[in-house]
Amino acid sequence: MVKVLMVCLGNICRSPLAEGILKSKINIDNIYVDSAGTGGWHIGELPDKRSIDVAKNHHIDLSSQRCRKFTVTDFDNFDFIYVMDKSNYKDVIALARNEEDRAKVHYILHVINSKEILEVPDPYYGGDNGFEIVFQMLDKSCAHIADKLNKNE
Ligand code: 4NP
Repeated sequence: MVKVLMVCLGNICRSPLAEGILKSKINIDNIYVDSAGTGGWHIGELPDKRSIDVAKNHHIDLSSQRCRKFTVTDFDNFDFIYVMDKSNYKDVIALARNEEDRAKVHYILHVINSKEILEVPDPYYGGDNGFEIVFQMLDKSCAHIADKLNKNE
């Protein structure tokens, strides 16, 4: 079983979308996808309505997701940990116990462009359009990730 964890700050906007998008592209059952936030303000809550709506526009249902916080045991439970921005990266790496943990952490946009660090912008305080832009960025990255996973690479 390959396990993939999507991580953002609040686990209500970006990482729930990344989780839903990747799940929608995966066609083998031995892949597990989850998401978490580095902050704990929204634990137990549904994703932000704007994420639910933009996902729904693309025929993806996020309504079974509930917010949880990233914990150090996630390093034991997951093979790939994808973060959205530099601040997520810093927060997750700060919890890593060793090189093996650190090696699991990747910027999600790195799979598209490995030459520079690109960030998925936090759409929380912006308008609805920000959510569609974030969707498109994550959709591209998740297509690459799903391709590799589906081929068992
Ligand atoms: P996310 O967006 O990290 O994409 O889920 C945020 C959602 C909520 C907050 C921050 C970021 N917040 O501070 O409550």
